[in-house]
Amino acid sequence: VTLKIDASPKLARKIPDTLLGVFFEEMGRGGAGGLWAELVSNRGFEAGGPNTPSNIDPWLIIGDDSSIFVETDRTSCFRKNIVALRMEVLCNNDCPAGGVGIYNPGFWGMNIEDGKTYNLVMYVKSPQTASLTVSLTSSDGSRNLASITILVAGKSNWIKVKQKLVPQGTDRTSRLQITSEKKGVVWFDQVSLMPADTYKGHGFRNGLVSMLLDLKPRFLRFPGGCFVQGGWLRNAFRWRESIGPWEERPGHFGDCWNYWTDDGLGYFEFLQLSEDLGAAPIWVFNSGLSYNDEVDTAAIAPFVKDVLDSLEFARGSANSSWGSVRAAMGHPEPFPIKYAAIGNEDCGKQFYNGNYLKFYSAIREAYPDIQLISNCDGSSGPLDHSADLYDFHVYADAKTLFSMKNTFDKTSRIGPKAFVSEYAVWKTDAGRGTLLAALAEAAFLTGLEKNSDVVEMACHAPLFVNDDIEKKWNPDVIVFNTWQHYGTPSYWMQLLFRESSGSIVHPTTISSSSSSNVSLAASAVTWKDSDNSSFLRVKIVNFESVAVQVTISTTGLQASIDCCDRPPLFSHLAM
Ligand code: AHR
Repeated sequence: VTLKIDASPKLARKIPDTLLGVFFEEMGRGGAGGLWAELVSNRGFEAGGPNTPSNIDPWLIIGDDSSIFVETDRTSCFRKNIVALRMEVLCNNDCPAGGVGIYNPGFWGMNIEDGKTYNLVMYVKSPQTASLTVSLTSSDGSRNLASITILVAGKSNWIKVKQKLVPQGTDRTSRLQITSEKKGVVWFDQVSLMPADTYKGHGFRNGLVSMLLDLKPRFLRFPGGCFVQGGWLRNAFRWRESIGPWEERPGHFGDCWNYWTDDGLGYFEFLQLSEDLGAAPIWVFNSGLSYNDEVDTAAIAPFVKDVLDSLEFARGSANSSWGSVRAAMGHPEPFPIKYAAIGNEDCGKQFYNGNYLKFYSAIREAYPDIQLISNCDGSSGPLDHSADLYDFHVYADAKTLFSMKNTFDKTSRIGPKAFVSEYAVWKTDAGRGTLLAALAEAAFLTGLEKNSDVVEMACHAPLFVNDDIEKKWNPDVIVFNTWQHYGTPSYWMQLLFRESSGSIVHPTTISSSSSSNVSLAASAVTWKDSDNSSFLRVKIVNFESVAVQVTISTTGLQASIDCCDRPPLFSHLAM
């Protein structure tokens, strides 16, 4: 088999700077308990719903019925998350050793590391003077890693407690416990424990962010997916409820992936993450449609206003109404949103087109430079509405995705461009991450590189999953537990493409005397690094299980192209 690369300038084409990015969705516990470094799960006691008594899971009680009584009530000082925890210590001087109280096991344990600093914030109220012990312990409470005593003066109002805990010893599945040995009543709310060491101090877990940085993503699509839509609109992501002081955020139950999030990782944090990654933010907002209910276009106006407000929050000056809220959160400079997706996978629903047009014209008028993304697939025929880009989602078996490398070959070269905003091999071929899946995805991506005159952007999905949970979706490309993480083959495959955005793609031709070339896919790109060195990267996918000998020949390479005098980092991918 011969692979010919024609690198002559006349046939070279620049790939869009934005070609490859990442898609973060709050699913698989990827945000709360994952990328977002908060260690306390259900920190505001809201996960059990607004009606009390409520389930305080995963909080648990230390002590028995004769020594402690714990319940929730609606006496919080926070209007939007009104549920608080009331702890009544019944024992007095006869409490069990270590006292009685409550503990939080975090998200399947807390990773507590020797000598590191952990910031504790909690709100407490106690009508009588109370002495509380806050500790970090092993999962069964038997080993103490850090302990502080907090004296709460007897008062009728809430007070904010801020303390630092510095453990002596490491435990990857620790818990946070709050105990007392004296009779009395104490209320708690918004109990937070964050490692002091997060990425740029912005609250993101370092190791997981570095996995994203390594991909050099050019954009961040957020926050979903189905998470944006919700099973029902009342459970959809609401940007407005996810900004401002974390203590005042109500949190919500995401009924697409069926878990509660306190929205500590909210709209502001997604914008901040985009900035930290050097990636363009792509805000996917709800189009007034969920899986089960739809807002009639005649009633969509408040949703349109809500989205305009979200854009002002991101882009408005620090003096604008919503820009000032962003500035108060510590970011006076605007976040440069240049892309917004009108809904997710909503095309074909009764009110999608009508709602789309309302969003489209309002945003176009207010922010003419924002590229608007339609959910309707324009790859095989023209859209019946204006759009700058259209979403294209594909989840398929490996053979199908491999064959889809030519999908955009016949797409019209005029009209809106494609945003392949979710692609992956799934189900049997993918398992929990396989080389087969990565190969098919790589072949698909070579097709996108070659068609990057009509494909503006692409990202794999989904991104993160907590290894401790029952996985609702397989595979996810970055798997983590409280302290470790790894990338599946699909993750490492994406690393092979990380230089593609903004590089130059060259025509490739595969020729063979046999029919084996049908199982090969290839692409060739060149680029210059910041030190002005030039590189050629050739990617070849062999989708069959037999080895193929390939002769690579290039013509037209410029003298400055430095392809061979250094070890190829990721020069080919073959099975
Ligand atoms: O990526 C997982 C899900 O797949 C997304 O939430 C949704 O957009 C798609 O159906």
